[in-house]
Amino acid sequence: SMPGLDQCFNLYDFESVAKRVMKKTAWAYYSSGADDEITLRENHSAYHKIWFRPRILVDVEKVDMSTTMLGSKCEIPFYVTATALGKLGNPEGEVLLTRAAARHGVIQMIPTLASCSFDEIVDAKKGDQVQWLQLYVNKDREVTKKIVQHAEKRGCKGLFITVDAPQLGRREKDMRTKFDDVGSNVQKTDADAVDRSQGAARAISSFIDPSLSWKDIPYFKSITKMPIVLKGVQRVEDVLKAIEHDIPAVVLSNHGGRQLDTAPSAIEILAEVMPELRRRNLQDRIEIYVDGGIRRASDIIKALCLGAKGVGVGRPFLYAMSAYGEPGVVRAMQLLKDEFEMGMRLIGVRSVAELGPEFVDARGLGMH
Ligand code: FNR
Repeated sequence: SMPGLDQCFNLYDFESVAKRVMKKTAWAYYSSGADDEITLRENHSAYHKIWFRPRILVDVEKVDMSTTMLGSKCEIPFYVTATALGKLGNPEGEVLLTRAAARHGVIQMIPTLASCSFDEIVDAKKGDQVQWLQLYVNKDREVTKKIVQHAEKRGCKGLFITVDAPQLGRREKDMRTKFDDVGSNVQKTDADAVDRSQGAARAISSFIDPSLSWKDIPYFKSITKMPIVLKGVQRVEDVLKAIEHDIPAVVLSNHGGRQLDTAPSAIEILAEVMPELRRRNLQDRIEIYVDGGIRRASDIIKALCLGAKGVGVGRPFLYAMSAYGEPGVVRAMQLLKDEFEMGMRLIGVRSVAELGPEFVDARGLGMH
C-alpha cells in the first residue's frame, strides 16, 4: 500500500509515490529529460561536488530564513517554478500549488502553459501573495502582448521570459507515450492544430517563436512595467549581455534537463558567473536565480553561498501534488523549511544575508 503523508520525510519520497500512482503518460511528461538525460542527472549530482565549511560557536537560537526576490518578500529563498500541464498530475491543477505556496509565504511562477486558466490561478491567491508570469513568446506578438498586459493588470510582479526553448527538446520517454489529453487552457487553438503523436511537450509548443532575440527586449520593456527576467541563461557572457540590456535578474537554468542535453548544471554556471561579476564590480546590478535538481535545503544553501538570490523548485512539487494533492505540497515545502533552518544552524549563520562563499568548498566544480 501507499505510504501516508507522514511517511514522507524528504522530497524523494514524494517522487517514488508519484511514480507509483501517476498515469504513465503523466509520469513520462513530468519526469523526462532530453536525450540521454545526462544534464537531468547532473543537475542534482553537481551539488554533491560542493562541501560545507561550517562555522562553530555562533548563537543560532534564532534564525531568519526570509529574504526578498525581485523586491518581494518571501519566507524562504525558494519559489515554485513554472511547470506546464498541472492537471496531468492532479485534476485540480496549478491552483493547488498556489494554495500551498500561500500557506508558506512562497512565490509562485505561473506557466504560460498551465492547465488551469491564468485567471483561475490568480483568483486562487490569498491576500498579497506574490506571483510571477513565465512567458513563452508567441509568434503572434499581439497574443503575447495581451497575455503580458493582462498579467500585469492582475498583479503579477515579474515577467520571466523563457529563453532556452526556441524549439522543445527531445524527451524520448514523453515522445514514446502517445499524448491525447492536452489539458491546457492557454493558446489552445495552437495546441489543437498540432500532431499529438510526439508526446505532450511537442503537442503544446508549436506556437513558440524561434526567432526571439536580444533585439526584442526593448519591445517587452515597452509593453510592461513588470521587471523582465530571462529564464534559461547558461553562460557568463549572456549574464553580462543581460546587464547591458538593463535586465534586473536572470535564472541560470537548463530547463530541468529537458532542453539541451549535456548543458551544464546551473550551480556550475553560477560558480563561473559570480567571480566574473565581482571582478567587474557588477554583482549588485543583477539578481541571479538558479533552478534544476534542487532536492534538499542544503542545495539551496549552497546556491545562496555561491551568490544566488533564490532558487526555483519544479518537479518535487509536481510529484507532491500528484501523490497527495495540496497537503502533499504543503508538507514538501515544510520539509524544505525544516531542513533549511537546521542547515543554517549547523553552518553557523542566522540570516540568509550572511551566507557567502566562505561557507563552501566548491573546488570540486569542474570549470575552476
Ligand atoms: C518544466 N519547465 C518549464 N519551464 C518553462 O519555462 N516553461 C514551462 O512550461 C516549463 N514546463 C515544465 C514542465 C515540467 C513537467 C518540468 C519538470 C519542467 C522547467 C522548470 O521551470 C524548471 O526549469 C525545472 O523544472 C527545474 O528543475 P527541477 O526542479 O524540476 O529539477
